[in-house]
Amino acid sequence: MKPGSVAVLCWAALTWPFLVHADQAGGQVVEMTMPLTGLPGDAVRGRAIVASRQSGLCLLCHSGPFPEERFQGNLAPELNGIAQRLSGGELRARIVDARRLNPDTIMPPYFSTDRLARVAGSFAGQTLLNAQQIEDVIAYLLSLKTQAKSIEAF
Ligand code: HEC
Repeated sequence: MKPGSVAVLCWAALTWPFLVHADQAGGQVVEMTMPLTGLPGDAVRGRAIVASRQSGLCLLCHSGPFPEERFQGNLAPELNGIAQRLSGGELRARIVDARRLNPDTIMPPYFSTDRLARVAGSFAGQTLLNAQQIEDVIAYLLSLKTQAKSIEAF
């Protein structure tokens, strides 16, 4: 790795560092390589969170291999095949706080309590998903290599 190509940004609010560095083509890579928990993520639980209208709400904006979900979003990239484009660390950075990549994103920061607008009193100081739920979602997304291989309804 070239000297100077890696900038490690440690944010006071989070113990986990976001890493920003250049890939071989000169593009910017933003990732969080360190898992948020000691337990590995569970892809089946992760799928349920992504599809849930209560917790993840991902399908409000995204679509994916969810034949049982009639209404899926078209405001954001299709999640199927995402594991071919992004690593676990890159997925973690985007789900924890997509604003680190795009300050104007409409995607909610799922593991941050920083700069959240319109938070109801009883939810203040809470993250949208907890650390294990984030790891579960990542485990599921890493299974989305192709439609055929992804976890279908269970
Ligand atoms: C309110 C809309 C919205 C919701 C809800 C949302 N996202 Fe996103 N997401 C986006 C948009 C828009 C992008 C495209 C990049 C950007 O604008 O930040 C994105 C980008 C992503 C990416 C990177 C895609 C790529 O091809 O680079 C992943 C992975 C992702 N979202 C996963 C999720 C997951 C998992 C959830 C639920 C836990 C979720 N998103 C919820 C809007 C949303």
